[in-house]
Amino acid sequence: MDAHYDPREVRVTKNKEDLGLHKDSQKAAARVGLTSDEIIINGGRPLNGRIEVRGAKNLATKAMVASLLGHTPSTLRNVPNISDVRVVAGLLALHGVLITRGAEEGEWRLDPSNVETAHKADIDAHAGSSRIPILFCGPLLHRLGEAFIPDLGGCRIGDRPIDFHLDALRNFGAVIEKLPSGISLTAPNGLKGANIELPYPSVGATEQVLLTAVLAEGQTELRNAAIEPEIVDLICILQKMGAIISMEPNRVIFIEGVKELRGYDHAAIFDRNEAASWAAAALATKGDIFVGGVEQEEMMTFLNVFRKVGGDFDVRPDGIRFWHPGGMLKPVTIETDVHPGFMTDWQQPLVVALTQADGVSTIHETVYENRFGFTDALNKMGADIKVYKDGLHDDTRRVMRREFEQAAVITGPTDLSGADVEVPDLRGGFSHLIAALTAEGQSKVTNIGIISRGYENFIEKLRLLGADFIYEG
Ligand code: EPU
Repeated sequence: MDAHYDPREVRVTKNKEDLGLHKDSQKAAARVGLTSDEIIINGGRPLNGRIEVRGAKNLATKAMVASLLGHTPSTLRNVPNISDVRVVAGLLALHGVLITRGAEEGEWRLDPSNVETAHKADIDAHAGSSRIPILFCGPLLHRLGEAFIPDLGGCRIGDRPIDFHLDALRNFGAVIEKLPSGISLTAPNGLKGANIELPYPSVGATEQVLLTAVLAEGQTELRNAAIEPEIVDLICILQKMGAIISMEPNRVIFIEGVKELRGYDHAAIFDRNEAASWAAAALATKGDIFVGGVEQEEMMTFLNVFRKVGGDFDVRPDGIRFWHPGGMLKPVTIETDVHPGFMTDWQQPLVVALTQADGVSTIHETVYENRFGFTDALNKMGADIKVYKDGLHDDTRRVMRREFEQAAVITGPTDLSGADVEVPDLRGGFSHLIAALTAEGQSKVTNIGIISRGYENFIEKLRLLGADFIYEG
């Protein structure tokens, strides 16, 4: 099969008043072919079986943007069928990138030979769909000398400002105009290498610098950079394209600008967040799940916590088996952190398992200011979770306090019982699914389109794992 990618497939009709949660969720669901936005789950039975995870949402989407930098086509493998990928594909197609599917499942060919300026109204139709469009700035400035970026979307887990991105771009010489509908950028004197120190090792801002510096004139030194495995994978892609990038000690990345880049051929790194989510589902439901495609090295921090909580795992060449070995789970204290710390995206699914642990667990969220909204639904199901808006004072903490951090205190074990819950955001939404699968009785989970932003074929995977549910889609 070599079907052309049709941008109309992902075009959404913009209507600001309509950007409520349900509409966002329905649009996300439609992008991956889900026709219903709710699922009825009969919980209380373990999830058992094997599923596969594919390429990481947080790499594949960035790799697709990187294709804009090449003068020859790129091939990206292991691309997951999730709605965030569809949003980025739609934006690339609007800019003239020809996207075709390869013979392999998840193989995409991206041809940027005819990159062109897209109509603002068309770009604007993607407003509120994702946060990835901010990463189009550098590549579009290099290719076209101008860029228009619509209002960003993504999960509502805090303010999620883009000041680090804009400051970095200004350092490279970009001129930025903020418009009511988005931001417009030009680079009248071209983009030049810069010395940049991020106030916080932001994943997105590090990617912004990488995608801009590779073709900027001269050298760029980035300090306090993010070093997540997805960043390293993006650097590998850029190196394949002809970039010169070195990762130095202490979060320093050094980039020597080159004049031209070519396309790449790359298989995306597996999705660590999806892997951790299914592992947590095995623990919470007292199940046994083999997650294919997962590798140990990128999961080490999670695996340590999984073991401390009382879960067991077996690392094999083709994936990792996660299971609940029986007995009571144990409480833990965790701080979310940048890599190599415990990822903020891992805490929501794990919290469900912690409601079944014998004692008091504490999670300090240090990355986002508003990432415990999902706990309301868990409490409705019978959990005992208290959220402390300003975080707990705790001198033993390793991570410096950020002004917006919070803490959740989970007292277990608590019996969960089915309830009607509405998915608030991507990771929180998956935790609602796990809670419904763990709870005795029936739950109705609505707004599940949001989950399709980052979890490929999750309905099918639930079926493979023996979940008891009704999905009329
Ligand atoms: N921040 C700023 N200013 C900026 C950029 C970031 O203050 O200009 C703050 C953010 O508000 C946040 C912190 O810095 O408090 C970290 O944000 P970061 O930039 O690292 O996050 P991101 O790039 O927006 C990516 C993932 C997130 C993941 C984080 C942390 C993508 C598309 N998103 O977000 O994934 O949680 O890194 O690892 O790559 C998810 O997959 O559900 C998700 C939210």
